[in-house]
Amino acid sequence: MNKKILLTGADGQLGQSILRESSKFPSFTFIPTDQHNLDITNPQEVNSELDKIKPDYIINTAAYTNVDSAESDYDTALAINSTAVHNLAVECKKRGIFLVHFSTDYVFSGEKKEPYNTHDKCAPLNVYGKTKWLGEQAINTIAPQGKIIRTSWLFSIFNRNFVKTIIEKASAHKEIRVISDQLGQPTSAHDLAYFTLFSILQSKNDKMDTIHFSNQGACSWYELAKEIVEEYYRLNLLDYMPRVMSTSTNELTQKATRPAMSVLSTKKTEDVYNIVIRDWRSSLSDVLITLSFSRMK
Ligand SMILES: NC(=O)c1ccc[n+]([C@@H]2O[C@H](COP(=O)([O-])OP(=O)(O)OC[C@H]3O[C@@H](n4cnc5c(N)ncnc54)[C@H](OP(=O)(O)O)[C@@H]3O)[C@@H](O)[C@H]2O)c1
Repeated sequence: MNKKILLTGADGQLGQSILRESSKFPSFTFIPTDQHNLDITNPQEVNSELDKIKPDYIINTAAYTNVDSAESDYDTALAINSTAVHNLAVECKKRGIFLVHFSTDYVFSGEKKEPYNTHDKCAPLNVYGKTKWLGEQAINTIAPQGKIIRTSWLFSIFNRNFVKTIIEKASAHKEIRVISDQLGQPTSAHDLAYFTLFSILQSKNDKMDTIHFSNQGACSWYELAKEIVEEYYRLNLLDYMPRVMSTSTNELTQKATRPAMSVLSTKKTEDVYNIVIRDWRSSLSDVLITLSFSRMK
């Protein structure tokens, strides 16, 4: 019999990417939900949905993800990223449901000079990172079966994200300014979605564990923006090649402080699952090509 996956936050970037990959995993039945029909901060709603569906797995992509807004909206961010996650973990433990949850490179302070390992000390710099870190701790304390997958700098064909913002800016302006002193790993939500479902297929009775999934290769937002613009121009989707100018964090007024270096080591993930994660440039190219097709329609 097919295994049932309850997906939360299904209208989000990763949620939609998981649904897009779902046809490659015919042994799973997906029950997509988002906050209009399953608000994860409402324990009664969660319990009655779990009673009704009796899922084998929960994939929790629901989250408060606006890093700057979170600075002045601590209570909401905490409710979604931590309290609700605590409740999901309790119910998963009680009901024997396998929980897959996502966290972020922003749990780290960015002081390290090398890629962060899963066991490195977490010391988030902003409210978003703190509430996500509290969510991780809640899961680890309750310890249902499952995985916490930390990822970074997601992009995809869905919703608003950095790649789509740069395309918009490049289409409207001849010059754009982008931060060059924050280093991380752009990650395709499509690659992460495929890996997530693949990893569930491999799972047996896994004890809760934290792993990292990001595309290979580190870069700055500036380098990422340059690659987006150049590739988009190569695809003949821009009439001119906009100039991408480098700027520094100090020159911008971002509400939330971000780590200067939040590259995640994915060695453990690649070893455990016997996979090679591809470079972000290759994944970016796929996303830009797909976006260019939708522009032609
Ligand atoms: N995006 C990134 O760059 C990034 C980087 C590192 C880690 N992550 C993590 O990856 C995961 C997926 O991120 P994403 O980019 O897909 O985020 P996203 O696009 O913002 O999607 C999150 C979804 O959760 C929904 N949601 C918010 N509150 C909810 C609630 N109370 N109940 C149910 N659903 C609710 C949102 O609905 P509304 O839109 O209506 O609020 C949205 O559809 C998150 O755990 C995030 O922390 C993301």
